[in-house]
Amino acid sequence: MAIVDVLEKLSNACGVSGREDEVRSLMKKFLKSYVDEVKEDKFGNVIGVKKGKKNAPKVMLAAHMDEVGLIVKTISKEGFLQFAKMGGIDDRILLGQKVIVYTDKGPVPGIIGAKPPHIQKEEERKKVITYDALFIDVGAKSREEAKKMGVRVGDVIGFDTKFTRIGKDSVIGKAFDDRAGCAVIIEAMKQLKKVECTVYAVGTVQEEVGLRGATVAAFGVYPDVGIAIDVTVAGDVPGVKEVEAPIKMRKGPSLTVADYGLITHPKVLKMLVEAAEENKIPYQLETGLAGTTDAARISLTREGVPSGVISVPTRYIHSPISMLSLKDLEDSVRLTVAAIEKIPRYF
Ligand code: CO
Ligand code: ZN
Repeated sequence: MAIVDVLEKLSNACGVSGREDEVRSLMKKFLKSYVDEVKEDKFGNVIGVKKGKKNAPKVMLAAHMDEVGLIVKTISKEGFLQFAKMGGIDDRILLGQKVIVYTDKGPVPGIIGAKPPHIQKEEERKKVITYDALFIDVGAKSREEAKKMGVRVGDVIGFDTKFTRIGKDSVIGKAFDDRAGCAVIIEAMKQLKKVECTVYAVGTVQEEVGLRGATVAAFGVYPDVGIAIDVTVAGDVPGVKEVEAPIKMRKGPSLTVADYGLITHPKVLKMLVEAAEENKIPYQLETGLAGTTDAARISLTREGVPSGVISVPTRYIHSPISMLSLKDLEDSVRLTVAAIEKIPRYF
């Protein structure tokens, strides 16, 4: 299957933190044909193993399967759902969104209700309505009716967004953070034929709520090198200054030098830069971003694991819909493959 089709399936699936089941099954299904063994650990991480030569270094690739979303907190007498946030979501983008409540009885569509401008007071219109003042309307007329539809406290809520191709080389959809990384890992496993090092292709859980899955997966795998494949903020849009977000779409994968939780190991950074330059893969260097990735936790495993990050520049992340260039996605795959082939020369 082409990478764009893999990304489409992954993007349309639900994977709000802690409820990654749909993405997990897809990840297992896709990885199965390209690795020697697919396991799931006790925490829910998926680990595909591609065996290399004896005593060759172990590399862990990590892409998180979860996405930011919402969770049902209370159901009002009148049948409206109040919610909490799972991961970092800007309150301003919630209003008026179409969502899906994932219940035991199946998906229930709903909308995040908004007060029409006609009945808003002047000062109300200028104010941000915070998430705790918002509600989801699933069309139920009472708490009992909502419960009959299957809705329970603790059900997760995802954005209702369909994957679409747009422009010459781009796609839009939800949860590219980090289904893009998952797709890159799957495609890299497909393209890697013979490997010298043993590769652990890991789909991690609960990244958006504190890098939790990667923490335990890395302990289990205990790799010699860790590489997180994630997305980063593409800041090439009106109103964003270069100094705030210098990474651009269509300029190749971004390599983290340092972020909020990781200083990329110098040997890993050198290896990644050389892999890019020798193979004429465009790349960008990034530093100073306020977020972090699974690599932060992998690097702190046991007595330390040299780690780095390859990111796909993505616009509008942590919102109901984001955008990336397929060229950047493919270049990220090429760089991942080139890096894996280089690792035995470095570690
Ligand atoms: Co994220
Ligand atoms: Zn991410």
